[in-house]
Amino acid sequence: MEVFVTRKIPKVGLSEITGRYDTEVNPESRRLSKDEIIQGVKGKDALLCTLTDIIDEDIIQEGTSLKVISNYAVGYDNIDVDAATKKGIAVTNTPGVLTDATAELAFGLMLTVARNMVKGDRFVRKDSFEGWDPTLMVGSELKGKTLGIIGMGNIGSAVAEKSAAFGMDLIYHNRSRVESVEKELGADYVEMEDLLERSDFVSLHVPLNEETNGMIGWHELEVMKDSAYLINTARGEVVDEEALIEALRSKKIAGAGVDVFADEPYGANPDYYDLKNVVLTPHLGSASRRARGGMARMAADNLIAVLEGRVPENIVNPEVLEEQGDRR
Ligand code: GLV
Ligand code: GLV
Repeated sequence: MEVFVTRKIPKVGLSEITGRYDTEVNPESRRLSKDEIIQGVKGKDALLCTLTDIIDEDIIQEGTSLKVISNYAVGYDNIDVDAATKKGIAVTNTPGVLTDATAELAFGLMLTVARNMVKGDRFVRKDSFEGWDPTLMVGSELKGKTLGIIGMGNIGSAVAEKSAAFGMDLIYHNRSRVESVEKELGADYVEMEDLLERSDFVSLHVPLNEETNGMIGWHELEVMKDSAYLINTARGEVVDEEALIEALRSKKIAGAGVDVFADEPYGANPDYYDLKNVVLTPHLGSASRRARGGMARMAADNLIAVLEGRVPENIVNPEVLEEQGDRR
């Protein structure tokens, strides 16, 4: 069996693959071009890729021997899953292991933007600090504030759980109601408009798909309180960035914490850079040693399971496995 790996992932996972299969790993610390990925998948039985690799129909067509695309990420919007399914290729992802890392980053962004920590850091480094000041960079606490969570999956639920420690009131919106957060955390299920109107912090935890693309646009930002903050650790395209940038510029909302960008994998929108009421981080949601190690193990396990004819723990398109079984 032959495997193509687009980026070096932590050894705990990578060595599981290289120890078993004839493996080609991109030796460089950079994203490969589409042509390089096409060359890479030719004749390979498995592809291990990251969320910066756009695995479109062209690549899938060229991977004529592929049995599995193992994504080193929980989100799989970078992969044309329908095209993979049509070709009988299993697509797997890495949910669960990065839940707390991402939820913690969401709180980090809430605290950082609401308490002016990045602005304060810049201020001190400019040698502008002349001692404690009763009115300097006075911000907003989390305690007693309403947190509106949009998307109550694994990560949304972890954010909900952690919000209890900060003494926040919880409301949420999701495709379907989640009884456990209502019962255990007293979260109220509300309609989208209601959530936007009432929340002091709105935190996004939906996957990117046709339904969620652009779900926060100018109208949604207009409905939010002037004093509210928007936190996005999901995917850039969930928010209409032009609208958000305008809302931040005109102080329609108080601020934002943004970890993900519509221009990924190429970068971020430079129009953010001059705004003082936004904190920007470079897609760090899963960037903890524990999460990245767990993702590596999981991505390797998923890939190996498919190649060995077993059902992987995390499969996005389970319908292809029956088909693969028939072909064996
Ligand atoms: C990170 O954004 C992931 O989807 O794993
Ligand atoms: C005001 O918003 C505060 O939280 O202190």
